Amino acid sequence: MSVEVDLEGKVALVTGAGAGIGAGAAHVLAAAGAHVVVAEIDADLAATTVDAIRVAGGRAEVSVVDVRRADDVNRLAATTLAEHGRVDILVNNVGHYLTVTPFGQSDDDHWDALDAINFRHVLRLTRAVLPSMVARGSGSVINVTSVEGLRGYPPDPVYGAYKAAVAHFTRCLALEVAPDGVRVNAIAPDLTHTVQVDYDKMTPPELADRWPIWAPIGRRGVPADNADVILFLASDLSRFMIGQVIPTDGGSVVAGGWFRTVNGRWTNRPRNP
Ligand SMILES: NC(=O)c1ccc[n+]([C@@H]2O[C@H](COP(=O)([O-])OP(=O)(O)OC[C@H]3O[C@@H](n4cnc5c(N)ncnc54)[C@H](O)[C@@H]3O)[C@@H](O)[C@H]2O)c1
Repeated sequence: MSVEVDLEGKVALVTGAGAGIGAGAAHVLAAAGAHVVVAEIDADLAATTVDAIRVAGGRAEVSVVDVRRADDVNRLAATTLAEHGRVDILVNNVGHYLTVTPFGQSDDDHWDALDAINFRHVLRLTRAVLPSMVARGSGSVINVTSVEGLRGYPPDPVYGAYKAAVAHFTRCLALEVAPDGVRVNAIAPDLTHTVQVDYDKMTPPELADRWPIWAPIGRRGVPADNADVILFLASDLSRFMIGQVIPTDGGSVVAGGWFRTVNGRWTNRPRNP
């Protein structure tokens, strides 16, 4: 017996869908039959995603937006609703750590920039799209936070705080709108190789063979590892789930400071192999 996700007739809006996890989400949602609005700041990246979806037989369109701009976000929601009459699936994917800054050195501009790229657009776009979901009595909102919103993030506490805000907004809003038939959930990625988290650049080649030791699951992630969970949350398979923040992290949250040794054992303290 096989289980198929059928999103035929549904409209999905994915922010930051030109690359990385957002592009992965756009691809799987389109492959399941949804029409995908690829909302992206980079027109070329957006066109690449849309072209690939169409070549694969799916339906998608480009919407060039900067989600940090209120007028862009409002236009995105208004045009999508005017053209399609509905948004069934909203994936609030855009987010970034920007320039990692210790709290003692951070200023208001850094806080504002982190707010704009990680949190404020999630509120704005959700507010703009939600009434249409509530009116139809169905919809799935999927926010993309980070493991850094679930655990302490020492390099930049303000980034960690904004990602935690996305996670907690997910839980709180889920309770508000569940009676209206709208489900709100989130994924919390880690260890996923993308443009933003470029492990080819961040990991010295001589340490590349350490992935089986470093990542509890034994390898780094690819966007599809996250996108498939987004597909699950978008689909009826998750119909009884609300307010959940699912780590798509290869086990980094659950390992909680435990590391595999080169001998395949586990340690939570400095030690020789
Ligand atoms: N990759 C990981 O391991 C990881 C870890 C933790 C959290 N995340 C989260 O996952 C989400 C996606 O991350 P990714 O690694 O795929 O990122 P990415 O940088 O590879 O892709 C982000 C996409 O968003 C677009 N974008 C950037 N700013 C935008 C804006 N202002 N308006 C519209 N589009 C914009 C980019 O052009 C790009 O196409 C983010 O919220 C990020 O915080 C990723």
